[in-house]
Amino acid sequence: MYDLIDKKRYGGKLTCEEIDFIVKGFTDGDIPDYQMAAFLMAVCLNGMDKEETVRLTLAMAHSGDMLDLSPIKGVKVDKHSTGGVGDKTTLVIGAMVAALGIPVAKMSGRGLGHTGGTIDKLESIPGFNTSISTDKFFEDVNRLKFAVAGQTANLAPADKKIYALRDVTATVSSLPLIASSIMSKKLASGADVIVLDVKTGSGAFMKTLKDSVALAAAMVQIGNGAGRKTYGVITDMNQPLGRAVGNTLEVIEAINALKGNAPEDLMEDALVLGQYMVYGAGAADSPEEARKMLEKTIEDGSALKKFAEMVEAQGGDPSYIYDTDKFEKAKFVEPALSPADGYVRTIKTDDVGIASLILGGGRETKEDVIDHAVGLIIEKKIGDEVKKGEPLAYIHANDKEKLEAAKERLISAYTIGEKPEKLPLHVYGTVTEDKIVFEQEGLSEEACPGGVNLFGDH
Ligand code: URA
Repeated sequence: MYDLIDKKRYGGKLTCEEIDFIVKGFTDGDIPDYQMAAFLMAVCLNGMDKEETVRLTLAMAHSGDMLDLSPIKGVKVDKHSTGGVGDKTTLVIGAMVAALGIPVAKMSGRGLGHTGGTIDKLESIPGFNTSISTDKFFEDVNRLKFAVAGQTANLAPADKKIYALRDVTATVSSLPLIASSIMSKKLASGADVIVLDVKTGSGAFMKTLKDSVALAAAMVQIGNGAGRKTYGVITDMNQPLGRAVGNTLEVIEAINALKGNAPEDLMEDALVLGQYMVYGAGAADSPEEARKMLEKTIEDGSALKKFAEMVEAQGGDPSYIYDTDKFEKAKFVEPALSPADGYVRTIKTDDVGIASLILGGGRETKEDVIDHAVGLIIEKKIGDEVKKGEPLAYIHANDKEKLEAAKERLISAYTIGEKPEKLPLHVYGTVTEDKIVFEQEGLSEEACPGGVNLFGDH
């Protein structure tokens, strides 16, 4: 290990055998934390090329169970978001794509920190059970084309161990390390088609378009390099997605979206990601055709029906889907008022997530218990005109003290300016195996100064 640290320290390229030795040795406990930490820092400083990153990802993916989804018939599609505030897209897309007969076998995580998890959101529905056996998971996907399960398998244990070390050694923000971390879990989850929602902006892991595009490009190359059809869509996280933040509130917003009443940004996110899931599965001749098919699942009610069927199959009460007034409500609902006249310029999206966390809607540690009913409904988004004393958002709380703290956090997340703002785009661009397509002129130069490099190390 000493020699390999030294090699990477001087920018050398590691062989496949060397990378496998490091990952296996560290996972088995033969390589101590201090040597792995030194190695990770050398990677942060000197990087890894495409071949090294693909091998690192495969070694981490194979460090635990590799899920075999072959008992599920058809092309299995998966979707992954790098994490955002108010991101309930999985609930909407899963139902839409499954309504087209395409199997969505979704393994989801719980939320930690300012971003929420799909599993926590679904558990807002009384009776809903995400701890289902692998057999039931396969059976439900074969029968209904849609199931959502918590991660029970031992997926990519090397990543868990490496991530814990990165977290305390200032080695998280390294493109090959982030890309291999995310993709090792995706490859281990077994889907044939992977669509990545790479968020960019104030609430995202990657704050700049340049970093987000680089991450998307690297992950798409890794996925395709490992034989999975992979697409990356770069979408906005400069403000919460939709208007609801908090578990029950987000589920209600997702159900309303399936009923045809979606905020524009949420439906755009769902359609763009969904179109690559459907196209990637071979069910449409073009992404544009796939989009039309998905829109139809909303118009004819088949996506809503699919969602209710999935909920019922996993022990949830489907009557809540048809009558969202049945969901338990928070005791207090109060507005957070604008301190000034003007237009919303920016929203510190992380802070909106933290406001929800303060209310009890998220977890600071793994042991925290979530209060599903609390959260926020955002009234004013970027570009909106606002008068002093008008609500920026409504806070749903079960505790007065937490309500006041969340209100303060929410108000301080906003900057109000005198002039109307240019609205952020919903979608910035899409990365496929061989190209990056940007949604607007000028973005290519911003994201890839000096030219597009598909492995992302611009
Ligand atoms: N999410 C992950 O799973 N891994 C990283 O390294 C960063 C974000």
